[in-house]
Amino acid sequence: MIEKIRQLAKEKNAIILAHNYQPPEIQDVSDLCGDSLELSIKASKTQADVIVFCGVHFMAETASILSPEKTVILPRSDAGCPMADMVEPHALKKRKKELGNIPVITYVNSTAAVKAVSDICCTSANVIKVVNSLDADEVLMTPDKNLARYAAAHTSKKIYLWDGHCPFHNTLTALDVKKAKTDHPDALFIAHPECPPQVLELADSIQSTSGMIAFAGKSNHTAFILGTEVGLLYPISNAYPDKKFYPASEKMYCEDMKKITLEDLASSLENLTGQVKVPEEIRKDALGAVQKMIDL
Ligand code: 13P
Ligand code: SF4
Repeated sequence: MIEKIRQLAKEKNAIILAHNYQPPEIQDVSDLCGDSLELSIKASKTQADVIVFCGVHFMAETASILSPEKTVILPRSDAGCPMADMVEPHALKKRKKELGNIPVITYVNSTAAVKAVSDICCTSANVIKVVNSLDADEVLMTPDKNLARYAAAHTSKKIYLWDGHCPFHNTLTALDVKKAKTDHPDALFIAHPECPPQVLELADSIQSTSGMIAFAGKSNHTAFILGTEVGLLYPISNAYPDKKFYPASEKMYCEDMKKITLEDLASSLENLTGQVKVPEEIRKDALGAVQKMIDL
C-alpha cells in the first residue's frame, strides 16, 4: 500500500501533507508533516499539481485558498474540526459591528467563509506576533477562547473572546496535569495554547505542535509531559528516541484526525476524489486574511 501511494503521488505530481496528529502510517507515507503554520506555508509554495491534505477539512480549505489552480484533496471528506464549526460568518459580522468594527483575528481552525469576514488569520505558532502586528488597541479573536486568553496574557491589547474551544484540549484539567507531574516528577510540562488557562499556568513552555518537537530537541531535559492531542507522541518520540514523552491525559484523542487510512489515501489519489474547492467569491476575501498571516 505504501509503495502504491508513493507511485501514485509520482504519477499525479502530488505532494502529501500530514498534520502532526495523523496516524503513524499516514505520517510515514507523507512528504511533509508539521503544524498548521508549516503546512499552510508549504501549501502556498509547492510546485505540485495535486495537494493531498491528511488532516481535517479547514486545512484542505486553506490549501485551496492559497492554491486555487491546484487540485486539493482531503482523503476523508467527513474529517472535520468541531472547533471550526463553533463560529459562522453572520454571527461574527454581527459581533464585529457591535464592537465598533474592531479588527477580527481568526484562528486557522475555522471555515473559509469565516476567514473571508476576518482581517487576519493566526495559528498557535504565531498568535502573539499576529496580535501585536495590528495597529489597533482592541481586537476580536475567534473561535478559540483559550488561544485568545493565552494571547491576551502576552499583549497590552484588549482582546474580546469568542466562546469556542477544542473539545479535546479544553477537557484537560489542572488536576490531570498535577497527577501526570506526580507520576513523572522529572518531566517538563509542555502545553498547547488550546488548553484552558489553569492548565497553561502549570506549563514550563506553551507551544504549537511543531513548537513542542523543537522545544524537546533543544531542552537538556530528557522527559516531557505533553498537554496536547495524543497523536503528537508519535512524531516527537521518533524525533528524539532517547527522550521520554508522556501524555498529560489519554482523553485528548481527536477522532477526526484519525479517520484517514492508507486505503483512503490510495483511493483518493488514484481517482482524485475528495476534492475541496473554495468558491471564488469566498476565496478571494479569505485569501486576504491568510496571506496577511503568512507574510508576517
Ligand atoms: P498546531 O499543529 O498548529 O499547533 O494545531 C493544533 C490543532 O489543533 C490542529 O487541529
Ligand atoms: Fe479541531 Fe481540536 Fe481536533 Fe485540532 S484537535 S482538529 S482543534 S477538534
